[in-house]
Amino acid sequence: MAKRLFIKTFGCQMNVYDSARMADVLAPFGFERDERPDDADLVILNTCHIREKAAEKVFSELGRLRRLKQARAQRGERMLLAVAGCVAQAEGEAVLRRAPFVDIVLGPQTYHRLPEMVERVSRGGRAVLDTEFPDEPKFDFLPEARAEGSNAFLAIQEGCDRFCSYCVVPYTRGAEYCRPAEAVLAEARALATQGVRELTLLGQNVNAWQAGPEWDLAALLTALAAIDGIERLRYVTSHPRDLGESLIAAHRDLPELMPFLHLPVQSGSDRILRAMNRGHDRDEYRRLADRLRAARPDLALSSDFIVGFPGETDRDFQDTLDLVAEIGFVQTYSFKYSPRPGTPAAALPDQLPDAVKEARLAELQALLHRQTEAFNQACVGREMAVLLDRPGKYADQLLGRSPYMQPVHVRAPGRRIGEVVRLRIAAVHPNSLEAIPA
Ligand code: SAH
Ligand code: SF4
Ligand code: F3S
Repeated sequence: MAKRLFIKTFGCQMNVYDSARMADVLAPFGFERDERPDDADLVILNTCHIREKAAEKVFSELGRLRRLKQARAQRGERMLLAVAGCVAQAEGEAVLRRAPFVDIVLGPQTYHRLPEMVERVSRGGRAVLDTEFPDEPKFDFLPEARAEGSNAFLAIQEGCDRFCSYCVVPYTRGAEYCRPAEAVLAEARALATQGVRELTLLGQNVNAWQAGPEWDLAALLTALAAIDGIERLRYVTSHPRDLGESLIAAHRDLPELMPFLHLPVQSGSDRILRAMNRGHDRDEYRRLADRLRAARPDLALSSDFIVGFPGETDRDFQDTLDLVAEIGFVQTYSFKYSPRPGTPAAALPDQLPDAVKEARLAELQALLHRQTEAFNQACVGREMAVLLDRPGKYADQLLGRSPYMQPVHVRAPGRRIGEVVRLRIAAVHPNSLEAIPA
């Protein structure tokens, strides 16, 4: 009999990928994914620990689910509740202490064992906690990925050895692990057969991917581009320290590789970059941006920023604003620094008051927003290849993504979802670009 599965995903793209894979793991056991938790037999919260706010959201969500679980129990129905992902990994037992109605707590590296965890609690056992870092990677035990639509994420690398001083990821995801090239290529072929046209390779430090002397990310991208059906490639998230010559050359040589790169810099101040343990300074970042643009002149850069890192002065912040303007980032995510338990930066003196962080964030976001707007405006009149991936609101209307991830809508009778079409950008709307057939 079909069982209902509801998964709510917080955090990054890796979590989106993991949620899809958890559904793949549970499908052979009769679980079908639902849009709502109301009738679910199993609810999974796939959580994020990156900032305090993200982690706290999980506990307020758990409060709501507790009431649902109780209401269901009164009707004689059983709803199992699992907490997965990075909060589960970081807090482990503590999740069960704070939310004793949770049935399963599992980390990002053990979800291939979900069916047996569900089986164990269903038999009436006590809550299951599994936050190990197993010797054998979960990837070896996952069933074939099922595609949904023309875009797909594909995790090729996981974990991080960089230990930026503010970041929990090395603790929640563990040490860097790279999947073998053959496993990645097999997953990509399976996805392409199911209609996937665009692959986004995922890793916390994706450009550190390496599998033996012959295989670096550039070689992998080249092999992926040769797969029938794969028309576009992206990779995320990159660290500036691991972006070498071969990858820059791939941006020049591979038309499938989209001219849009998320390359977080975090701060424009050398002093702060040192305190963050980023391993690069602003000049190195600038030179890297220049080399990438020399290789691929239409390349646009996006970035992440943290404002209000301990000890950040007005001067340091000004350095960030200057770098943003100079590099001309077109798409960005910016955050107030959030001290995370167990990270070195949380113990630094000179933590800044929230009001300072708030004001700097507002100023930075205003600048970044102007740059995004200017970039969108500059796209008007340009021809772009758009991957149509969803139906629009009106008859004949389709939605898609530009090479720069901008949502694009177009009236294109006779065109189908999954096609890459050349369009001319005609206008900028608040949340999308409007295009006409080129
Ligand atoms: N692997 C990615 C980052 C993953 S976390 C990378 O190296 O870029 C995503 C973003 O969250 C980071 O780029 C950083 O900007 C932000 N972030 C991480 N820890 C944070 C913290 N303690 N406070 C605020 N923002 C943080
Ligand atoms: Fe975190 Fe730094 Fe690793 Fe990115 S590179 S995941 S910011 S420690
Ligand atoms: Fe969050 Fe874990 Fe991703 S902390 S950002 S879900 S790696």
